[in-house]
Amino acid sequence: MKKSIKKDLTNNTDIKLLVDSFYEKIKKDNSLSYIFSDVAKTNWEKHLPVMYRFWENLLFYSGTYEGNPMELHQKLHHFSNLRPSYFDHWIELFNSTVDELFKGKVADMAKQRASSIAAVMKIKLFPQAK
Ligand code: HEM
Repeated sequence: MKKSIKKDLTNNTDIKLLVDSFYEKIKKDNSLSYIFSDVAKTNWEKHLPVMYRFWENLLFYSGTYEGNPMELHQKLHHFSNLRPSYFDHWIELFNSTVDELFKGKVADMAKQRASSIAAVMKIKLFPQAK
């Protein structure tokens, strides 16, 4: 059996591949795609570069992202009633994308950061949930 050699995330080209691959999954996903296509009416040409900068900032401390994801997701929740399980599913898709493409410390950090941000979002959006 051929061993696949995965490398860690080391540069902005890696981030682009991760982000592009992740949102390809999101676009095909039965429970999450409509939030982008119907609720936010996402312009992918604008959103993807924002996400490159977001992840470059989180993983390489580039200082290139200035935004307020919490506020944006609060608004989204207001318009579309997100569910806690959507965040778990988002994380499943994100983590599987990372694992399919990369392996290493930065890849692990990407998964950890995503999980902790999703956990904070869930606590803020669903304060009544246990
Ligand atoms: C149920 C889970 C989630 C859904 C449905 C969701 C959906 C969305 C949508 C629709 C947008 C707006 C795209 C546009 O500009 O049209 C957005 C933006 C964004 N999301 Fe999420 N998201 C989820 C979870 C997360 C998580 C866990 C993170 C962080 C790890 C995250 C990070 C971001 C960021 C950074 C932006 C861009 C904000 C900006 O414009 O500055 N999202 N998301």
